[in-house]
Amino acid sequence: MSARGELSGRVALVTGGASGIGLACARSLKAAGARVAIADAAAERLARLRRVFGAASLYAVDVADAAAARETVADIVRRQGRLDVLVVAAGICRDAVLWKMTDEAWDRVIAVDLSGAGHYLRAAAPALRKSPAGRVVLVSSINGRRGKFGQANYAAAKAGLLGLARSAAKELAASGVTVNVVEPGFTETPMTAGLPAAVRERAVAETPLGRAGRAEDVAAAVAFFASPGAAHITGQALAVDGGQAIGA
Ligand code: NAI
Repeated sequence: MSARGELSGRVALVTGGASGIGLACARSLKAAGARVAIADAAAERLARLRRVFGAASLYAVDVADAAAARETVADIVRRQGRLDVLVVAAGICRDAVLWKMTDEAWDRVIAVDLSGAGHYLRAAAPALRKSPAGRVVLVSSINGRRGKFGQANYAAAKAGLLGLARSAAKELAASGVTVNVVEPGFTETPMTAGLPAAVRERAVAETPLGRAGRAEDVAAAVAFFASPGAAHITGQALAVDGGQAIGA
């Protein structure tokens, strides 16, 4: 967890920061002193965050749009003069077994969950390389590691984030930029709120610590990776899952 003021003077961008885990990350980076911009497709949710983060720091964009990623990062650098921290939390699922999965469900999940991360990482890399303490944290999932019935598209995209992070970690290391991955287990957010009670109960039953995760649990790990204390950690993946995927 970042201490108060630890990120003062730093500028952070959180994709998917209008809800759930991304919003908890944005709040925690702000509490650590960073100026925080948010890129999210949910314009109404963003509008409700104007008072906390400032209207000029909120970008209503689809992360699957590579040109919008470049424009967003360019605008942040123009306004703030720098970008130090990138957190990629935007994500969706479109669950179906392979033999019922539509082209749209496959393409859209890969486009948002994997390509979206790639677009923002590519767009942000030049500014991050200029930062004295560049940090990237990608929010993956334990299902990217262990696989999940009905989530081949999502698990493939989330597993892809690890290859992206490890490659970026090697490419950006010479500039002192670290790139790490956080893998949440079942976490209470708007994404999981609509799931049947039985799904939630099964997830909690397989979690040794005996409860579902909270967005703040994940944000604490993200804030750690963004903090000065994590300067010598890169290319790593940390599960924040109450033990749900131990051994996977
Ligand atoms: P959420 O649905 O509460 O938040 C996701 C945010 O991403 C929303 O604000 C949404 O508007 C935004 N978003 C979705 N598609 C977008 C797009 N194309 N362009 C821009 N923004 C877009 O979900 P939650 O649970 O907070 O998920 C955050 C991340 O954590 C996701 O990447 C998800 O896959 C991951 N995760 C969540 C778990 C959970 O149990 N909630 C478990 C493991 C991983």
